[in-house]
Amino acid sequence: MRKQGWLWTEEFIWHKKNCYPGKWPNRFRDAWERLLQFNKNRKFNMYQEEVMVPMGDWAQSRLKNLSETDRIRDNSKVGSGFGKNISNWLERDKAYPANVLHLATECNNKNHSAAFPEELPEWFIKLFTVENDTVLDPFMGSGTTLFVANRMRRNSVGIDIVPEYCEMVRKQLQPVELFLLEPEMVYETAKSKRRNVLR
Ligand SMILES: C[S@@+](CC[C@H](N)C(=O)[O-])C[C@H]1O[C@@H](n2cnc3c(N)ncnc32)[C@H](O)[C@@H]1O
Repeated sequence: MRKQGWLWTEEFIWHKKNCYPGKWPNRFRDAWERLLQFNKNRKFNMYQEEVMVPMGDWAQSRLKNLSETDRIRDNSKVGSGFGKNISNWLERDKAYPANVLHLATECNNKNHSAAFPEELPEWFIKLFTVENDTVLDPFMGSGTTLFVANRMRRNSVGIDIVPEYCEMVRKQLQPVELFLLEPEMVYETAKSKRRNVLR
């Protein structure tokens, strides 16, 4: 990927809240998956406010007794240029999320064994796109990403090596109806009485 010019920006974890119990001889059950973010440029669109989360209990305990360091910008000791000022978060009710997504798995009523929950593509579509942008899923499967993109009024393109999946999604996906202008409608005609009076 690096040779093709992709930059590895971030790694997210999808924590599968409801992974089913089981016994394997050499490992424990899978409860998470990695999601890797690559970009072609260092600067890219990211709408962080769209995925903000409630501050939660953290604020009550952590912000109660602030130390001297918490009240000033505490720069990273390794000289990375990053820093934090904990006191900036006083009086706020929302925070930016962590890079761990806690979502249940979901594969009911989908004709695919590895369908992921709608909240997963929804979160990333909110974070990285706006209406009318285009979302590409090169491993479309049952088309979860495309259906979510469609609902969120984004264009989408899906690819899958199995023709049956492509056909299945094509049959189910309703094209988004976008209106540049108000759709044509038949309006009730005004009664001419008042007009006559004014004349
Ligand atoms: C994990 S599934 C994706 C499931 C999808 N996220 C959903 O919610 O249904 C991966 C899909 O990639 C497809 N696939 C595997 N190798 C592929 C390839 N080389 N090109 C295109 N699709 C491929 C498989 O057929 C499978 O449907």
